[in-house]
Amino acid sequence: MIKHCLPIVLALCLFISCKKTKKEPVKGLITKNAMVVSARAEASQIGSDILEKGGNAFDAMCATQLALAVAYPFAGNIGGGGFMVYRKANGEIGSIDFREKAPMTATKDMYLDENGEVIPEKSTLGAMAVGVPGTIAGVFDVHKKLGVLPMEDILKPVIALAHKGVVVTKKQEKKIKKYQPLFFKANKDSILFDKTWKEGEVIKYPKLANTFERILKHGRDEFYKGETAKRLAKFIQDNGGIITEEDLASYEAKWREPVTFTYDDLKIISMAPPSSGGVCLAQIMKMIEPFHLDEYGHNSLKTIQAITEAERRAYADRSFYLGDPDFVKIPLETLIKEDYLSGRMSNFSFDKATISSDVSHGNIQIIESNETTHYSIVDQFGNAIACTTTLNGAYGSKLYCSELGFFLNNEMDDFSSKPGVPNMFGLIGAEANSILPEKRMLSSMTPTIVEKDGKLLMTVGTPGGSTIITSVLQTILNVHEFDMTMQEAVNAPRFHHQWLPDEVRMEPNLFDRNLIKQLENLGYSINEKDSPVIGKVDGILVLEDNSYEGGADYRGDDTAVGF
Ligand code: GLY
Repeated sequence: MIKHCLPIVLALCLFISCKKTKKEPVKGLITKNAMVVSARAEASQIGSDILEKGGNAFDAMCATQLALAVAYPFAGNIGGGGFMVYRKANGEIGSIDFREKAPMTATKDMYLDENGEVIPEKSTLGAMAVGVPGTIAGVFDVHKKLGVLPMEDILKPVIALAHKGVVVTKKQEKKIKKYQPLFFKANKDSILFDKTWKEGEVIKYPKLANTFERILKHGRDEFYKGETAKRLAKFIQDNGGIITEEDLASYEAKWREPVTFTYDDLKIISMAPPSSGGVCLAQIMKMIEPFHLDEYGHNSLKTIQAITEAERRAYADRSFYLGDPDFVKIPLETLIKEDYLSGRMSNFSFDKATISSDVSHGNIQIIESNETTHYSIVDQFGNAIACTTTLNGAYGSKLYCSELGFFLNNEMDDFSSKPGVPNMFGLIGAEANSILPEKRMLSSMTPTIVEKDGKLLMTVGTPGGSTIITSVLQTILNVHEFDMTMQEAVNAPRFHHQWLPDEVRMEPNLFDRNLIKQLENLGYSINEKDSPVIGKVDGILVLEDNSYEGGADYRGDDTAVGF
């Protein structure tokens, strides 16, 4: 009798202990109607207020983008650029490219010395690093095509924030301190950020408020053809740069068809070139689709192997084939075709790591800056946007135009200064991403929207340079394969492989020691030193009852606000 009962008793004990140890799901902010998730509470609040006032996701995009230029000068900007992917409530999709472009007098060798060597810091620090900014053009084009509120309603709260100022957080205090030596180096005169700002102090931006006032009065052209354009071109040239008033006057944002593909029962909508994000994400997801990740388990040995090997192969293609589609021919359809991708994975075995040099087109290494920012928005009408925007490096070129109140990007560094050869930051690319006048530099930004059964499921994105694509990937998989909430999917430890260097980067001390040993035994080189964090994902998930769950990344000051 006892013998008979034993399995039942054991099963009962197991059930009780499982019930006891089963963790409650970690959930982010849940709202019924609408939500904005961005790098700063102040920007999310302004975006959410615009929605509450009757604006749609596109009005909120404009407000959040501009508010981030005030509240998050580290990467939020009007002196940079970005990409936005959208899905309207009626299912219509689209995207806009407001990426910076090279000035008209840019040349392929502009960052090389007379011996053909890359000149240190020329493409990263100061006026020569600056690409023609696209943000204001992007914001105004989005507003004109898709917004409903007057621009005055959008700009007024942003101007008020610039006057009122923004409280310095602990993380911001540290960042300003870290980059101060470079601010001194890049700027002739002292700037607002030379002071030692402490947590809790308030930074006010009256000059930026004035710039916004002029933009409100004269519209988009104020930035590209008006007083602001004149002052900006003069400032850049006075500091040794080559951007002219003509460069600014000829800047146009571009509406582009997004990259779309399926993964199981999901439809993924992401950014097309000049971002590599959508193509690379499609390649990785199609390569791992045949594997049963849900059975292998989250961050298990086999899951990490399958994802790593797909990433290795996708990043090899990225380096060789991708650039500005207006300048280079990209075999886009082939790159994301199933038979091409299954061929790419045919030499993969779980028994042993592939070696990157066996996969590649040559020793081309990509390392990009980590400092970008992403925000996700859903509105009360069912529209959704994913927008990733950047100055490239932290505070861009570090060149701060005190008169206009904003930092300028160093996006020129996203070109390959010398195709095939690493510059001092290890940043290399192929001919497809070489510098030409008015060409856009290749990006990794991956603003992405996911549909399930023809309905909106998620909007997601992240900063993180080349790790952007793999962070977005893991967040989608965490929800779809591993049943996580949005917040859990954002919180989960991340890893990254980008073909070269041939190593799996992991967030330090978050992965099991035995797992790391097993990976090393199979031939994977693990690097836990160089990436204290991988990505800083902000996303929104549509729940079964049609409410929204925000995932704001704890790795930053990111915050979800909604109603
Ligand atoms: N500058 C970062 C990116 O465009 O990917």
